[in-house]
Amino acid sequence: MAKKANDVSWTPEMLEKGGYPHFMLKEIHEQPKALRNALSLRLEVCQEAARILNDSQQVYITAAGTSNHAGLAGRYMFTKLSRVRTQNILSSEFPELTGELLCEDDVVLAISQSGETADTINAVKHAKRQGAKVISVTNVVGSTMSKLSDYTIYTYAGPEYGLAATKTFLVQVACLSLLSLDLSLMRGSLSDGEVKTLREGLMNTPYVVDRTIKRQDRVVRDVAYQFANKQSFLFLGRGISTATAMEGALKLKETAYIHAEAYPAGEFRHGPMALIEPGFPVIIIAPPDETYDRLVKNLGEVKVHQAKIISVVQEDDSEVRALSDHAISIPETAPMFSPITFVVPLQLFAYFVAFRRGYNPDKPRYLVKAVTEP
Ligand code: BG6
Repeated sequence: MAKKANDVSWTPEMLEKGGYPHFMLKEIHEQPKALRNALSLRLEVCQEAARILNDSQQVYITAAGTSNHAGLAGRYMFTKLSRVRTQNILSSEFPELTGELLCEDDVVLAISQSGETADTINAVKHAKRQGAKVISVTNVVGSTMSKLSDYTIYTYAGPEYGLAATKTFLVQVACLSLLSLDLSLMRGSLSDGEVKTLREGLMNTPYVVDRTIKRQDRVVRDVAYQFANKQSFLFLGRGISTATAMEGALKLKETAYIHAEAYPAGEFRHGPMALIEPGFPVIIIAPPDETYDRLVKNLGEVKVHQAKIISVVQEDDSEVRALSDHAISIPETAPMFSPITFVVPLQLFAYFVAFRRGYNPDKPRYLVKAVTEP
């Protein structure tokens, strides 16, 4: 019998909480397994998508919410590794910001966990009307978006019942990473040796996520409980960590109903710095990548106004750690894939703050898992 839309073969026990108090915590802990599934994507799946992208003149990544943050990380990889001209456009803004300028040489990469988000489906239809090719990255086989697309990459993260996306963010970034590596090989923007090294780093992320959860769960919980009564947070990152910062801020907003703003650390000095007052919590995402030294400088600019600094750093970090009131350590990660590993403490932080404030992180007020009404 033909599969109905959303007819996915998830077994009932997968829907159990498995002893966790909430689906969100269960799904955070499921991330190493979900990542391994995503990273074991059949090679030809990414190669076909890479071929379509390689033939394009311009790539547009469009999505909403957490999927947009995965797309921001993807853009960074496509630009820096694959040297492909890439633009991110929120799906709700896509028709207005592209107008009638799309053509058959353009590729739109649409990312949607549910494959049912109306804004993203609308963006896909807008792109198709103008002859652009559409590749979709989604977690739901047979979703509306996949049926509209020329090509679909399924993330196979399994069901995500926590409203706030967690494991689906990680697997989206993992799929985009695989795609970027295949694209880099195809375009010759990286050597075979460089891609091999990066791929090894990517394949190590499930282990890093597992170690982070096991080793930092309590540390994050204690910090979260100390800051649970704060009314506003700032998340700062640079480069690809801007995407990580945006995802961390969204988690806190979605689950703990706390105002949280993510900013590229360099931009923060142009005005928003005035928000800082003694004790104001600032979360710094600081993987040892090409932006690290400038981020340290930005951190110093914030520290001088007596902000409380919570940093997410690599285990061997000393400089940011020395400037931080609290540091959460991540085992060594290939910096290009740091959104996969550095976001995990931010997910746990949001979960524990929400829990401490007495909210149910699985069912945040006003929100739905997929906004299917335009
Ligand atoms: C929102 C959800 O409604 O939709 C977010 O609350 C999600 O968690 C966003 O990221 C986009 O959903 P999707 O299914 O298109 O990735």
